[in-house]
Amino acid sequence: MNVLVLGGGGREHALAWKIKQSSKCDGLYCLPGNPGTAEIAVNIKGSADDFGLIKKQVLSAKIDLVVVGPEVPLVDGLRDKFAADPDLSGILFIGPCRKGAMLEGSKAFAKGFMARHGIPTAAYRSFDINTLEEAYSFLSSMNPPYVLKADGLAAGKGVLILDSEDQAKEQLREMMHGKFGEAGNTVVIEQFLSGIELSVFVLTDGHDYLILPEAKDYKRIGENDTGLNTGGMGAVSPVPFADSDFMRKVEERIIKPTVAGIEEDRIDYRGFIFIGLMNCNGEPYVVEYNVRMGDPETEAVMTRIDSDFLGHLKAAAKGTLKNERISISEKSALTVVSVSGGYPQSYKKGHEITVGFGDTADLHVFHSGTSMSGGKLVTDGGRVLTVTVNGDSIEDCRKKAYAGLSMIKFEGQYFRRDIGLDILRYMREK
Ligand code: AMP
Ligand code: GLY
Repeated sequence: MNVLVLGGGGREHALAWKIKQSSKCDGLYCLPGNPGTAEIAVNIKGSADDFGLIKKQVLSAKIDLVVVGPEVPLVDGLRDKFAADPDLSGILFIGPCRKGAMLEGSKAFAKGFMARHGIPTAAYRSFDINTLEEAYSFLSSMNPPYVLKADGLAAGKGVLILDSEDQAKEQLREMMHGKFGEAGNTVVIEQFLSGIELSVFVLTDGHDYLILPEAKDYKRIGENDTGLNTGGMGAVSPVPFADSDFMRKVEERIIKPTVAGIEEDRIDYRGFIFIGLMNCNGEPYVVEYNVRMGDPETEAVMTRIDSDFLGHLKAAAKGTLKNERISISEKSALTVVSVSGGYPQSYKKGHEITVGFGDTADLHVFHSGTSMSGGKLVTDGGRVLTVTVNGDSIEDCRKKAYAGLSMIKFEGQYFRRDIGLDILRYMREK
């Protein structure tokens, strides 16, 4: 098969890396990809939002399967454009239609979906500028902290958690007056959930599903979960508190009704569902849906899949997932993201990167914000590289990952040194 992966971050590098291992993979293309994917695939310059370019590439390279990495092309209806185009409608495609992508693209839609299908999530109401006074009284009726969510896509910045009612009201007003652009025209206000977070990944054909390895993501820039939110600074898989009892609850109460809901609502959904969960005293609640894989979780998750991932993708796209079985490694995976100094605020680009080792069976470097300049690898984003290792334990992974990171150098480099430490603490206390 010829495969086209859309996107250019660490997630897409890891997806391409896993796809490439399949004996079914003949040609592998990434649009736009990055210097990491250039080593395993053909990179196509351009944007993953450029339908004309994607179509041209699909036809000229005789692509059989398109795998969409980021959410924006899906929320913009890329699958629907394929379905409506006679030249493309027969191409296998991983990613939901526009309506399915609203599970990520509209928080109010996602909450309505969960309410309709009896899926546990925080109690909520949604408001717009015409119901601002009602929103204020709703806030007054709640206890702190207050959770405000801009309805639309806001590059991961649209969720605010505030301690005082006055602050919450002020922020609500600002959101409705354009703080996040149109994304904040509608705001979901919901109950605060207290617990430990977990990312669960499902590959579905809209009827059957495979559960991929779960992961824990580290969102804050600072150690011990302090400082500003980022796209993700590290990931660990498996997650010890996601034991078989907890995962059974997740499957029965969340995954099954979500897939059944998609089918009942007649949504054409062949792709990934990333379920952000809160474990509240052993009970799972959905915090959010995403319609793509997580970054950097993918960089950890892909290394634990032993079965033919491209085979699973093909089956999901064809609607034959019922026959697939996933095989997951017992090994742990740990990913640390190396970022540009200053990230997630402003940072400089263009610093030369040296990586003092090559990938081995259990040590991988996935590229995120890198580019080539004058024959040299340079920084070109906030999150620059991820180092992923596999090992028999979290301790083992931590040793290997930080040994690897000590051999990666660029000016201003920063990474968290505590990835996985909370899990070790959790296991000691248990
Ligand atoms: P979201 O974009 O909906 O995933 O929210 C971003 C982050 O905000 C989540 O990963 C949680 O850490 C936090 N968050 C969102 N909703 C809630 C909630 N209801 N209670 C507590 N934390 C939340
Ligand atoms: N790591 C979280 C995300 O990809 O949204």
